[in-house]
Amino acid sequence: MTNGLDGVVAADTRLSHVDGLRGELVICGYSLDDLAGHISFEAIAHLLLEGQFEGLPDRTSFRNYLGAARLKAFALAAHADDAILLLEPLEAIRALIARMPDGDDLDAALLLLAAPGVLLPMLLRRRVGQSVIAPDASLSHAQDMLRMLCGDMPSRVQSDALDTYLVTICDHGFNASTFAARVVASTWAGLTSSFVAGLSALKGPLHGGAPGPVLHMLDGIGKPEHAAAWIETALDRGDRLMGFGHRVYKVRDPRADALKGAVRRLAAGSGVTPGRLHLAESVEHAALDILSRRKPGRSLDVNVEFYTALLLEALGFPADAFTAVFACGRAAGWLAHAREQRLTGRLIRPESHYIGPRSAAA
Ligand code: CMC
Repeated sequence: MTNGLDGVVAADTRLSHVDGLRGELVICGYSLDDLAGHISFEAIAHLLLEGQFEGLPDRTSFRNYLGAARLKAFALAAHADDAILLLEPLEAIRALIARMPDGDDLDAALLLLAAPGVLLPMLLRRRVGQSVIAPDASLSHAQDMLRMLCGDMPSRVQSDALDTYLVTICDHGFNASTFAARVVASTWAGLTSSFVAGLSALKGPLHGGAPGPVLHMLDGIGKPEHAAAWIETALDRGDRLMGFGHRVYKVRDPRADALKGAVRRLAAGSGVTPGRLHLAESVEHAALDILSRRKPGRSLDVNVEFYTALLLEALGFPADAFTAVFACGRAAGWLAHAREQRLTGRLIRPESHYIGPRSAAA
């Protein structure tokens, strides 16, 4: 079955829908516009996991359960050796999570949902010689992540910005990392194995690895008036512009505007300098203009990663940790999809189309 876009094969899911022609994202029946900035990460994670796990606590208590899972993740990783700090943050998180046993139940899911948000601040503090900060189970996931990263309670506008980000990127159809997680789940391997597959697929720059390079692009451009020349030179070299283009969206990625709104609110609360936002907008306009001229008919527009870079920078995350923050939110989608797939009991096993040689005798 196809969904109207050439070569894109669709399969059933109740979790999310990406309409690439209309630029719409629906998660658990709700449009992204009704979710981002309106509900918490805990609430959307609860919606995604609903129906997938027996014993799921009600929406209100879910926050406490996730808080308790953060404490458990912290205890499990407390003795991680220093060698782990030599890895990129996402690789280090993957290594620590890979040590957790496989399971299929709610406890296993909650631990995995909590883990990246605890491990990331812990690793980032340890690598600059700062003492680690234990989770506070009474806080929201976004508040606690920022508190464990910076040491102080974040402002409301900061924690709202991270919450909006985590909700915006929590699920997105059968993207590469979710598909990888579902394939592993379909073998009945267990949630940790699925999760590690998701983390691994997310890492590449064509998927979740783009926002760090977006920031490097903005830094390389430096001033709005340099944007067009910088972009032309990069495209002459054969580079791709990070933060632009999408396999499914043939119009603007709706997540980009959800995040741009969050960046604007942060700017109003002085989390992003007006100059930084102006630079990003100038780069966006120049890139869209140049891409439409150089790649006519390709419909290349801004994607989620562009304003992610600005948002996460303003919240104090270093560029090499951006993909790991993505994993903190997408964890909800991976777990829900892995479980949805597991409950079907069906192995995913696409057929290959052989185009190699055949011997004359065969
Ligand atoms: N910059 C310059 N040219 C591009 C870009 C870009 N960002 N994206 C696509 N193109 C060109 C590509 O070179 C090709 O040109 P031609 O036909 O002349 O060879 C044409 O557009 C079609 O490219 P494609 O590779 O067939 O498109 P795709 O659907 O495979 O690519 C993509 C999707 C996201 C991998 C690609 O747009 C890309 O590499 N973007 C930059 C990386 C990026 O921002 N990744 C984050 C994606 S959003 C997060 C997520 O949901 O995963």
